[in-house]
Amino acid sequence: MNYETFFQTELDKLAEEGNYRVFAELERHRGNFPKATHYRPEGKRPVTVWCSNDYLGMGQHPVVLNAMHEAVERYGAGAGGTRNISGTTHEHVLLERELADLHGKEGALLFNSGYMSNWASLTTLASKMPGCVVLSDEGNHASMIEGIRHSRCQKRIWKHNDLADLEAKLAELDPAQPKIIAFESVYSMDGDIAPIAAICDLAEQYGAMTYLDEVHAVGLYGPRGGGIAERDGVMDRVDLIEGTLGKAYGVIGGYITGSHALCDFIRSFASGFIFTTALPPAIAAAARVSINHLKTSSAERELHQRQVARVRRKLDIMGIPHMPNPSHIVPVMVGDPKKCKRISDRLLDAYGIYVQPINYPTVPKGTERLRITPSPMHTDEDIDHLLDSLGEMWAECALARGEQVA
Ligand SMILES: Cc1ncc(COP(=O)(O)O)c(C=O)c1O
Repeated sequence: MNYETFFQTELDKLAEEGNYRVFAELERHRGNFPKATHYRPEGKRPVTVWCSNDYLGMGQHPVVLNAMHEAVERYGAGAGGTRNISGTTHEHVLLERELADLHGKEGALLFNSGYMSNWASLTTLASKMPGCVVLSDEGNHASMIEGIRHSRCQKRIWKHNDLADLEAKLAELDPAQPKIIAFESVYSMDGDIAPIAAICDLAEQYGAMTYLDEVHAVGLYGPRGGGIAERDGVMDRVDLIEGTLGKAYGVIGGYITGSHALCDFIRSFASGFIFTTALPPAIAAAARVSINHLKTSSAERELHQRQVARVRRKLDIMGIPHMPNPSHIVPVMVGDPKKCKRISDRLLDAYGIYVQPINYPTVPKGTERLRITPSPMHTDEDIDHLLDSLGEMWAECALARGEQVA
């Protein structure tokens, strides 16, 4: 085989479909989110970022930056080893306590990313419990899908957020068989929200464990930022809550929370936890301070919701189609991969607006979109500029508008 030709042909096919991914090279500025500098072959220019998952700008918050600086001064750079071999620092232990408290659980376990926490935990649970079957929502993130696949367990994919389909699949299974219902709270691409309490009802009825990914909800929902399960008052009914420290908390890392025995089981058997160097203590310190801040301050959450509502209202006034959902994620629907890419390119080059196109395979073909994530730091003027620019691009690309709401 000519390897180079093979690689290039596959890449050319992607580009032909409009699905070749180009990364924007950015420089973030301390304390100045969502402004950034875009590095282009023609030179640098300022941009406003509209697609960050640093949803609340905590990655630039002074309390988080101070905690990270102080921790570097105190502890130095790396952790120095895996958690088992000299890598468990005091900061890791404090962070795990903070996380357990956030979700009202006995224990927590840190991973190097949200991806790793899902992959390693689902792999371990589903491969170790004899005859385990995982019931996985069809909209689940790649990290859950890969974890389930790697476990080689039986699986049943249930229709997205469809309780009747979940129940039908549960009812077909042997009551004695171990079962895990794996789902998310806020789904990242459509921004819709799972009926957690009703899923817990089914789990109790059919003797299943519940595994909930709150990656796009922690920090953002609930009185202390514990996510949708906290908002809905059902945290104690979910067996395992998984989250990230890289999105609303603005740092990096992933985690699970649950009972002592559950966390200890994964700590003891998950290769993706055991055989990798622990996060730097300064990262753990910064994440802990970020979580702690958002446990007591709701100002960021309130302003976030206000700016999300403002973007949606302006889209409605202009008749620009967006997926209605009850979350902070605003999917502006283009429905064509090439136009989606073109709008994104033009927004960046001509208007200083950075919003990444979301094309297949991240979303189904025909539902290509711009996934807009307003933050508390986007000003009303930023929003006006975004909407005016989108309006011009809608006309330039001859895209249909919906009914314009007064
Ligand atoms: C639903 C979901 N779970 C897990 C992850 C992975 O989290 P992390 O970015 O911390 O690896 C993502 C990332 O986007 C996600 O969307």
